[in-house]
Amino acid sequence: MMMRVLEDELFPSTPGKVKIERTHAANRQLHRCFASTSTLFLWALLLIALTASYLSFQSFVDTSSRYFTASWGGLHWERQIRASAAVRREDGIAVLVTGAAGFVGTHVSLALRRRGDGVVGLDNFNAYYDPSLKKARKALLASHGVFVVEGDVNDARLLAKLFDTVPFTHVMHLAAQAGVRYAIENPASYVHSNVAGLVTLLEACKSADPQPSVVWASSSSVYGLNDKVPFSELDGTDRPASLYAATKKAGEEITHCYNHIYGLSITGLRFFTVYGPWGRPDMAYFSFTRNILQGKPITVFRGRDGTDLARDFTYIDDVVKGCVAALDTAEASTGSGGRKRSPAQYRIYNLGNTSPVTVPALVGILERHLKMKAKKNVAEMPGNGDVPFTHANISLARAELGYKPTTNLETGLKKFVKWYLSYYGYSRRVGNKS
Ligand SMILES: NC(=O)c1ccc[n+]([C@@H]2O[C@H](COP(=O)([O-])OP(=O)(O)OC[C@H]3O[C@@H](n4cnc5c(N)ncnc54)[C@H](O)[C@@H]3O)[C@@H](O)[C@H]2O)c1
Repeated sequence: MMMRVLEDELFPSTPGKVKIERTHAANRQLHRCFASTSTLFLWALLLIALTASYLSFQSFVDTSSRYFTASWGGLHWERQIRASAAVRREDGIAVLVTGAAGFVGTHVSLALRRRGDGVVGLDNFNAYYDPSLKKARKALLASHGVFVVEGDVNDARLLAKLFDTVPFTHVMHLAAQAGVRYAIENPASYVHSNVAGLVTLLEACKSADPQPSVVWASSSSVYGLNDKVPFSELDGTDRPASLYAATKKAGEEITHCYNHIYGLSITGLRFFTVYGPWGRPDMAYFSFTRNILQGKPITVFRGRDGTDLARDFTYIDDVVKGCVAALDTAEASTGSGGRKRSPAQYRIYNLGNTSPVTVPALVGILERHLKMKAKKNVAEMPGNGDVPFTHANISLARAELGYKPTTNLETGLKKFVKWYLSYYGYSRRVGNKS
């Protein structure tokens, strides 16, 4: 077809207008040849352009799916989301739990589900610690009817899809890069999850209709270099000792801004060293247990002046009660269409235990429960972000959330050790792998 057009242009079809001479016949051959070569050339160009655009599209898809696992979407997926979000009690709530395959996220999701609330989880299953533990938590949640979407809180399209599929009344935002020391190794992961991810999530909440109420995990680490104890919500928090703390403090400011401009109802919870079954392998109580059982040494840090480090260890069930109470007392957001209609609730609470325990005392309790002695190396605390002690004043949470921790470290670690031995397949005679 193309050849025909070119030929017609070179050789008008109107008879008599052009007198074709013999020399022109040779030219005509040449033109024909040229015409077909240039056509071929054009086709080749088209093919190259198509191939190039296909390849660049492929690489875009590859890059984005490596970053945002594109394992979501489709009718079946939407059905799973709706079933998981279905509320099974009067006045129940529908909650999007981010970080649901994490330690606290799993427990909060289970507690909500057990009382009949709708719960959909979201987690990127990153490899900060063993992802198989996160997968096992996901399986536990699935067995209770909670579906966990594999995706990143930075994925705005996924969040929009989730809010399109379910009119969530609440968001329990627990997804974060946790841990203090890892920031030395991978600072960008803290900015990615705790700052950029938080903003992406709040953007989605702000645009959702209805806007959900947001409860999210800040941290006791915002108290940083404070030495006035116990830590109160009224104390200054402008001297963070780690990048982790700085990103949590930034989170408190960012959430305040979304509350002020868009009317999002916000509750920030400052957790104090949460521990318990299904816990985090990067935390001392967990890695001490593993090392003691394997006969490996543990390192117990001390302050520069030789004082023992102390933490306000808080048992997971107590923290879960605080989270659920925060959800239950959260007022509705007041904005729509990107504007607030009236001032919205903004709250911050300490969720601690109010009785700090030293790290050597923690080791002593573990030794008793494991019936094994720890091989201890004592070392000075390195200056990489840890603080010497934490101690929560919980009077505000007690007054406004009815928060009242009831589990001491002795009892809580007993439950943790029991879970650890069964999860990692140790026989009843502690220390023996079954
Ligand atoms: N456990 C504690 O002692 C403690 C203390 C203070 C604050 N916090 C905060 O509480 C929350 C829960 O902590 P945890 O102990 O359960 O930690 P966790 O690491 O077990 O849980 C966090 C989960 O979030 C997921 N996640 C991380 N970045 C993500 C992203 N960009 N997109 C989607 N998912 C992502 C992780 O895969 C993980 O499963 C965190 O915000 C943490 O900072 C915990």
